Amino acid sequence: MRCRTKLPAGSFSSIFITQEKRNTSNPVKMNILLIGSGGREHALAWKIAQSPKVNQLFIAPGNPGTAELGINLPIGANDFDGLKNAVIEHQIDMVVVGPEDPLVNGIVDEFKNDPRVSRIPVIGPDKSGARLEGSKDFSKRFMFRHNIPTAAYFSVTADNLNEGIAFLDTQKPPYVLKADGLAAGKGVLILNDKEEAIHELKTMLGGKFGASSKTVVIEQFLSGIECSVFVISDGKDYCILPEAKDYKRIGEGDTGLNTGGMGAVSPVPFADAAFMEKVENRIIRPTVEGLFSEGIIYKGFIFFGLIRVDGEPYVIEYNARMGDPETEVVMLRLTSDLVDLLEGAANGTLSGKTVEFDHRTAVTVMLVSGGYPEEYEKGKEITGFGNVEGSIVFHAGTTQKGDKVVTNGGRVIAVSSYGENKDEALARSFKNAELIRFDKKYFRKDIGFDL
Ligand code: AMP
Ligand code: GLY
Repeated sequence: MRCRTKLPAGSFSSIFITQEKRNTSNPVKMNILLIGSGGREHALAWKIAQSPKVNQLFIAPGNPGTAELGINLPIGANDFDGLKNAVIEHQIDMVVVGPEDPLVNGIVDEFKNDPRVSRIPVIGPDKSGARLEGSKDFSKRFMFRHNIPTAAYFSVTADNLNEGIAFLDTQKPPYVLKADGLAAGKGVLILNDKEEAIHELKTMLGGKFGASSKTVVIEQFLSGIECSVFVISDGKDYCILPEAKDYKRIGEGDTGLNTGGMGAVSPVPFADAAFMEKVENRIIRPTVEGLFSEGIIYKGFIFFGLIRVDGEPYVIEYNARMGDPETEVVMLRLTSDLVDLLEGAANGTLSGKTVEFDHRTAVTVMLVSGGYPEEYEKGKEITGFGNVEGSIVFHAGTTQKGDKVVTNGGRVIAVSSYGENKDEALARSFKNAELIRFDKKYFRKDIGFDL
């Protein structure tokens, strides 16, 4: 069942508007450990730090942006022993996992199986739930088991290559090949030529993406417009968060190589009441119920990567976490207390919650290192933070070097803004994007162009 959604007047589901008063009586204050170091984690930290339920926020490893909101701990996201020790040392009451890697590697199971920390809730699915993202073959089988709309597919290994090629023969170009496992966002190939697709299929099976492409999922190509929908689940019930559209290609007009995401916008105008009702009935509810029915108690974020084809929603992919850079706009639009929702996910009490959205548009524009997503340099000094007015600056790939903040990744800074509409919000982000400076900075000036 969904928790209540309280949207701005005129939006979908405003029938759920209630006059409930927030319970503000002396909340028990918690110490929270947030895992990760990107723009998503800075945005989560920004939102968590606003909660009256937080005593102290720790971030492992964090970045110079999160250092302004809590205490960064120099522990890697996959250093489970280090993280467990930190939980004990700092008397952490709740762990929130940002990126997918630790989830797919089993951080939740690792905590559950260690009596020293087994009572500390870790927000994120366990290893079995994280397969929604960690194995495309698992997620496709899951969707077919539960009649969730998605592209036709065939899973190929070295043992059934000929059948895979026969499936390609049944498809029209372009051909979609996906590494089964995690591949840092690079595991999807879309090819126009069948011979090239067969060649790439063989290269993938031969180890192009290491063990991740020992199995390859071939998919029917779907043509439409994409958007990202997020829920937080307690295993039985869920709350729907603001939706967003991200811009994955490096070049304007959605051209060039895929990136981690060059910007995002929320709300998404085409995700209107009628569309979202279909998304909830055909995709969200069957997913949460399907997980439960398979004995997977999923406590965490589910990211539905959707595509609208002739007005109907299909799942392109699931992720077991929030999106980046979508989180940099979703957190701006979520007016409810995130920590209260995280607690609800941990305790199985989401059905009694109300989620409220800000009526304004939120956008983010990603400043990236020249050359990204191919080779780029790190260590460039970033200046101009003090000149920013009217935007919220999230650090994505930065690090502290003495008294300077320098670039430390492809995606460097996410400049996020509110506006009464998309154009107003974008004008703020673009203005401030110019004011933040580093050598070979690049950003797309057409975020939101297709909405
Ligand atoms: P992913 O890395 O799984 O997010 O996929 C990258 C991008 O590939 C998606 O955002 C889509 O734009 C595209 N894509 C993936 N699967 C399909 C499909 N079956 N049909 C069309 N486009 C797809
Ligand atoms: N923005 C897409 C992702 O986080 O995977």
